This record gives sequence, structure tokens and C-alpha cells, in this order.
Amino acid sequence: MPDRRVLVNLRGLLTPDPARAWAVDRIPDAVLAMEGGRVAWLGRAVDLPAAWADVPRVDGGGAWATPGFVDPHTHLLFGGNRSGEFNRRLHGVSYQQLAAEGGGIRETMRATRGATVDDLVAAGESRLRAFRERGVVHLECKTGYGLELEAEARLTAAYAELKRRGWSLDVTLLPAHDLAPEFKGDAEANARAVAEDWLPELVRRHPGVARFCDVFVETGVFSVAQGRRIFAAGKRLGLVPRVHADELTWTGGAELAAELGAASADHLMFCSDAGMKAMAAAEVTPVLLPGTTLFLGMRDWAPARRMIEAGCRVALATDFNPGSCPCVDPLSILRLGCLQLRLTFEESFTAMTLHAAGSLRRGDLGHLHPGGRAELLLWDVDDLLELVYWVGEPYRPRFLPT
Ligand code: NIG
Ligand code: FE
Repeated sequence: MPDRRVLVNLRGLLTPDPARAWAVDRIPDAVLAMEGGRVAWLGRAVDLPAAWADVPRVDGGGAWATPGFVDPHTHLLFGGNRSGEFNRRLHGVSYQQLAAEGGGIRETMRATRGATVDDLVAAGESRLRAFRERGVVHLECKTGYGLELEAEARLTAAYAELKRRGWSLDVTLLPAHDLAPEFKGDAEANARAVAEDWLPELVRRHPGVARFCDVFVETGVFSVAQGRRIFAAGKRLGLVPRVHADELTWTGGAELAAELGAASADHLMFCSDAGMKAMAAAEVTPVLLPGTTLFLGMRDWAPARRMIEAGCRVALATDFNPGSCPCVDPLSILRLGCLQLRLTFEESFTAMTLHAAGSLRRGDLGHLHPGGRAELLLWDVDDLLELVYWVGEPYRPRFLPT
């Protein structure tokens, strides 16, 4: 009998329903039948089919069960940190000003270029453990702090090693994360190098490691036209676009994502109404990153409600990175979704599970309906709303015994 178990003694179970965009099932006194690491049946204990009667039980200890969080936008691997720069921001220097002085992403680039693959793997593994103990069971993670071929290749090699060690990751190549200093402001030449040399070479050296590619389309970084060329090169290599779009200014990044059939457009604080409609029509997932808005001290929260009204399946993510959101905590993002993006608890939760997984085109994550991966969390609370309500309370989920 292949690994069959029934999870019993739950206060309840809450899960999005993959068949209905924003519907959440809240099942009191639930049980969950699992087979081969996947959900086979869920419902109330009294309705459990007789075929499961003699299958071994797992005691849920009276907890609430939910699917694990999926984080669809992180910059997991980088060298150093930017706490010094953060203090300068507290003294009034802007994020853009720091970047103009050669700090910001470039400061992390220098630390990352100095790191070995082993250094990167060790840092990555300790960050992944921190995500995991807070309930994140799958992450998207980007390269992007190398800004040259060899350092980007070391980042890709480190992700390959983390995947080999069993971490559940989707890798995105982002060598166009900023202008590399070697190009002295020549964005055209930089974009050409990424499209014609770096992306093909990264895929040649590390086949099968990355599923996605990304470009920071932003005023003063890469233009929409340059982004379009880099993404075209990525698509020829089998990489699906995700776009850093409309983060600090409107540039038409959301519209570009729709035109490309991207899996996601991310950030979007300055997204236009036309961009929202285009994303809904092209089934591009807007991935909103409210931790970044908070950490950058901005007031322009992404227009999540208007995106939902336009028909988008909005997702939320941490944007974990050393400059604009050094946060590994999904509950902080869940709370910001409710408190600043004006999502209901159910919407915020769905954005961090089902739609986060959808933005990675993974239908078996982010829900506990039959066929879903049994990657579930057990929460020792009377009601799941407490996870948001007790602001700052550091809840940690329990996991099923393996
Ligand atoms: O997602 N927008 C570009 N990249 C990051 C910031 C990176 C950094 O400051 O180190 C972001 O916000
Ligand atoms: Fe980012």
C-alpha cells in the first residue's frame, strides 16, 4: 500500500479551491486522506469513505490545517547585507540616491562577486530554513546580484546545488537586474550582452536549472524595448518571462508582461488601469510585494483591489532581498495584504498560496484539494484569523511527521 495516511483530530481545515479563483473552503472537524504524498480526499470526519477505515492515522493535535505558503518572488542568494545603507535611508537619503552613488544593488553585487558557490549555498540554506520554519514550502528565487557572466553562473550553480539537496525551488535568471558597471551606463550594450551571451551561456552551462527569466524594467535601468529583446532571447531558450514592472515609476511593464504572455508581473505600485486589464486578459499573475513598499517607506501601495476587480488573480510575495525587503516572514506579508492592500483574510491567504503557485504554473501547490501536494501546515490557534489579528505575534506552524 503506497504511503497512505489519514490526518485526523483537526479543529478545521482551510484551503483555496483551485477550481474557483477566490473561493476558500473552511471545513470544521475535517480529516484529510493522503496517498503517495498527495491529497486523496478531504472533508468532514463523519463523511470519510469506508475505504480509508483501516489506514494509519496521524494526529493533528486539534490544530487548523492549511496548505503551505508559496513565495513566488525572492532574491534568495546574495553576499553581504545592507544594514548600513538602511541607516542612511533613515537619515533621509533616498533609495534612488544611494543607487546613483554606486550603492544599492551595486553594493550587493560587489559582495556577491566575492562569494564562492559554497558561500552562496551555505547562506541560501540558512535562509531557506528560516522560510521553512515560518511555513514557506516552495519558493521562486532569482539570480541577479552578479551582473556579469561568471558571478551569475556561480549563483545558478548554487541554486542547482540547493535543488539537488531537496529544496523545492523555481529558479529565475535575472542578469538584467541593474546596469553592470562595466557598461558605463550603456544600457543598450548591456541588454545585448544579456540577450546574446549571458542567458544562452547560463542555460548551456546549467541546463534544466532555471524555468524563468526576469528583467528590471524601470526608468534609468532597462527600457521596455530592451526588456522585450532580453525576454525574446529567454523565450528562445525555453525560459518563461516574469517582469520587475512599474515598481518605482510607470514604464508600461505590466503591458509588456501581457504582450509577452509572461507568467507574472511583479511589484506594480505604479501600474496603469490599461496594464491591469491587459494582465487579466493575458492571464498574467500580478505578484504584489507590500513588504517592499513598507521597507522603502513609500505610500504607493499596489492597487490590489482594482486588480481583482479587473479580473486578475493577485499573488503576494516577500521579495526577500538585502535592499528593499530583507524579510523571510510570510505572516508579515499576509498581514500587509489585509492591512494595507485592503484584501480580506481569505483573499490575502489565497494570494499567498493558490495564486502564488499559479504564478509559478504549479497546479499541485497552494491548495489541499485532491491531487495537491500534501505540504500542509498545522496551526495551534482557535481561529486562523488570529494569525493576522495578533499583529507581530510570531506564530510558527507545525509540520506533519514524515
Ligand atoms: O525587487 N527592483 C529590483 N530589485 C529588488 C531590489 C534589490 C535591491 O535593492 O537589492 C526589488 O525590489
Ligand atoms: Fe524583486
